[in-house]
Amino acid sequence: MERQIAFDKLAREDRMVRMRAREVAESKISQGLPPFPGLSSRDSIKERAHGIMVGEMQAMEGAGRTVYDFPDAPWEFSLDMARQVWDESRHVEIYIRLLEHLDGYIGEFPETTILWRCACAEDAAARVAGVNRGLEGLACDVFNQLVYIGKKIGDPILERAVDFVLADEITHVRMGSKWLTKLTEGDPERRRKAIEFQETIDERFNLGGARQLGDHEVVPISIATEARKLAGFTDEEIERLIKSTQRSQVY
Ligand SMILES: [Fe+2]
Ligand SMILES: [Fe+2]
Repeated sequence: MERQIAFDKLAREDRMVRMRAREVAESKISQGLPPFPGLSSRDSIKERAHGIMVGEMQAMEGAGRTVYDFPDAPWEFSLDMARQVWDESRHVEIYIRLLEHLDGYIGEFPETTILWRCACAEDAAARVAGVNRGLEGLACDVFNQLVYIGKKIGDPILERAVDFVLADEITHVRMGSKWLTKLTEGDPERRRKAIEFQETIDERFNLGGARQLGDHEVVPISIATEARKLAGFTDEEIERLIKSTQRSQVY
């Protein structure tokens, strides 16, 4: 595999501010704010939308890089990753418009690079496990809840825009499940390592216990069991995720 560029070398305009996730969380806690924006006000929804917009950008860059990093991978794999670049670029556009709709702007909040760093795993199987199944699985949880909130506060633009993106994310998770299986065929050790990588990501992204199984009104991020099933997660995997959320971690 070609050596990857470092995560802090991502090309960005000057209006973007980059910070480590830990620093962002610490600075919020020191101001008496929750480390992760909730969905109870338009302002917190705006902050969440900004975080997602940045995540979409890194997802686009990550998938693009996977096309480049693994020239010997099956052609259909590269094609799927190239399609994902296209999808993610539309998601970036959708979230930029959504941000404007919420009276926000690009660079209003810092950018963290957790997603990008996950997209730098050395093994293609680990990438699709970690990014497509781990992080885009999380996106299904978050988007499903945002659709609900949009409906509840009577904001059809929020509701529909996020619903359209959710439909794509479900296909990305499914793509991750497909390629995790295909790339590790006959190599149980490679599969085990890739799944282990996904599980470390799932644990990290419990966001201090923010992600739980529960009502949209009650928990900060509710696990979207139905969307996850559509995306190819097994009942057993969903069960394991719910259990892991009970071991809260601070990222
Ligand atoms: Fe996306
Ligand atoms: Fe995606």
